[in-house]
Amino acid sequence: MTITPLVQMRGLTVDFDQGRHVTRALHGIDLDVAPGEALGLVGESGSGKSVTWLAALGLLPGRARIRGSVKLDGMELIGVAGRQLDAVRGRRVAMIFQDPSSSLNPVMRIGRQIGEALRLHRGLTGAAGEAEAGRLLDRVGIANARRRLQDYPHEMSGGMNQRVMIAMALAGEPDLLIADEPTTALDATVQAQILRLLQEIRRDSGMAMVLISHDLGVVAENVERVCVMYAGRLVETAAAAHLFERPRHPYTRGLLAALPALDGPRERLAAIPGSVPEPWNLPAGCAFAPRCGEAETACHHMAPPDIPITGHERVLCFRPRYAPEALVAHHRQPQPANVADMPVLRRTEISA
Ligand SMILES: Nc1ncnc2c1ncn2[C@@H]1O[C@H](COP(=O)(O)OP(=O)(O)OP(=O)(O)O)[C@@H](O)[C@H]1O
Ligand code: SF4
Ligand SMILES: [Mg+2]
Repeated sequence: MTITPLVQMRGLTVDFDQGRHVTRALHGIDLDVAPGEALGLVGESGSGKSVTWLAALGLLPGRARIRGSVKLDGMELIGVAGRQLDAVRGRRVAMIFQDPSSSLNPVMRIGRQIGEALRLHRGLTGAAGEAEAGRLLDRVGIANARRRLQDYPHEMSGGMNQRVMIAMALAGEPDLLIADEPTTALDATVQAQILRLLQEIRRDSGMAMVLISHDLGVVAENVERVCVMYAGRLVETAAAAHLFERPRHPYTRGLLAALPALDGPRERLAAIPGSVPEPWNLPAGCAFAPRCGEAETACHHMAPPDIPITGHERVLCFRPRYAPEALVAHHRQPQPANVADMPVLRRTEISA
């Protein structure tokens, strides 16, 4: 039986208008999220993780040109009016960010902030709203929840504020929670507690979750499927267990090699040489080629093939490992990189 995806993203492309030229931050992302699924999105800083979801939810500034399609339960989100998106944001899809202090109002009591979300998304006010705010704060593990509703954000620790953010995100009973680096600003113990809390809530509520992180280790234990992103493209998508046992893409193998061992002595980490190219300075061919120890001539000139391994697993590479040879041979027919893939476009070139 095929499950209808909750989110179906096709060819999501984002260009930023920089005045004299336009840079492409996303190059046609295809991605599905199933109902209730925990999906990880991993990649180094600047790879396009946040832009993907900000674009999907209409949260990018006006100079962003967005093309492609993102459907939520079959409803198109790209190009629709802000009013329609207001009905989706917070209610159907909620997002939490790395730094709660930038999202919480410092001069408003916690209870009022959660209450506002409850009023907006579920029409709950008065005693019913207050009772539900207390229940949510209790659900995210804050002791003496009813009393803490009177606190201001500065009266709580960073970890507690992140729990408040999660409570606010849950206020609309969303079908999908986008957690964008939700624990990066927290110390390791609190980070583990928050990730455990997100897992519990997801299991209890049946909502889907996209966990965004630059740290493959954080994602590993908390999701079922992982998308690895590099320079505005998904380079590998695989079940979490497969990704760790049989990483197909050289970049995924680089990320894995850079993870500290969970047990045994801490060895020097094998960092991937070089850094992610800027969107306006992408190399021709495969964007990872300058850092890839396995690059061949074609990698420097041609766009690598996007090889479907199974319905839910893909790899974007000329030379993937753990992929059937015949399948790779079939997909590696040379395709010249087309103008739409060029890293920096003159304004006239994208007018079509
Ligand atoms: N508002 C914007 N205007 C212009 N360029 C932008 C804007 N937002 C993001 N970008 C560019 O798009 C690319 C992808 O950015 P994004 O924020 O999605 O990266 P990320 O993978 O989330 O990185 P990080 O791990 O640092 O959060 C980057 O090169 C970034 O500079
Ligand atoms: S396409 Fe070539 S350069 Fe790119 S990751 Fe694969 S082997 Fe490396
Ligand atoms: Mg980001």
